[in-house]
Amino acid sequence: MRIPFIAGNWKMYKNIAEAKEYAMKFKTLYRGTDVKTAVFAPYPQLPLLVEEFKGTGIGVGAQNVHFAKEGAYTGEVSVSMLEELGVDYCLVGHSERRQYFGETDETVNLKLKALLETKILPVVCVGETLEERESGKEQEIVSNQTKAAFEGISAEDAAKITVAYEPVWAIGTGKTATAEQANEMCYCIRMTLAEIYDMETADKVIIQYGGSVKPENATEIMNMEEIDGALVGGASLEPLKFIEIINF
Ligand code: PGA
Repeated sequence: MRIPFIAGNWKMYKNIAEAKEYAMKFKTLYRGTDVKTAVFAPYPQLPLLVEEFKGTGIGVGAQNVHFAKEGAYTGEVSVSMLEELGVDYCLVGHSERRQYFGETDETVNLKLKALLETKILPVVCVGETLEERESGKEQEIVSNQTKAAFEGISAEDAAKITVAYEPVWAIGTGKTATAEQANEMCYCIRMTLAEIYDMETADKVIIQYGGSVKPENATEIMNMEEIDGALVGGASLEPLKFIEIINF
């Protein structure tokens, strides 16, 4: 039985004061239902959120990490530094990182492996561009991204990873994939995992949909068979909207 997991990705929004105000409000709204939740925030806001959400069941996640233990990598943050902060999750391979910061299938795989040596649970993003969808290659692209991400990872570790299917053309555009399109792609990811491992392992993996999820479309998306959760950008920035999605 997969427990639904709905997470918010703040991207590069909210300073410390705003994060504090959000946390205070969100804590009073979250009822610890049977839906797991977490907030992926910028690094400077993480210690505050870890503190504020202690004992509430609300998880805290970073949006990126470096795969090396340490080294001359100016501007980067290591897995052990995240462990020190006490975060529960870390995003890997978000399309904005792939698009603007040179993230590749190879670095995604290295980051997953580095995180799996710790208790920090990875959420890895995959998804096709508009061009790739228009040329009918979306399943091939997403399946290949999934295979590359999970390369050399054991079945036991694979079950700890959440996959977020985020079509690039639906992120921040207000354009959502139809529930059927999202379901079909999440099914494709699960079948790819079954091919790499086995059906039992594939059935354990939480697969989220992300891309313009909002209170108005959350129920339809969450009711789809293969969709176990959502990764919410814009609509997670307001506690009331985010809680509405969680209480779909
Ligand atoms: P969006 O972002 O909900 O604003 O489309 C989703 C994401 O990038 O994770």
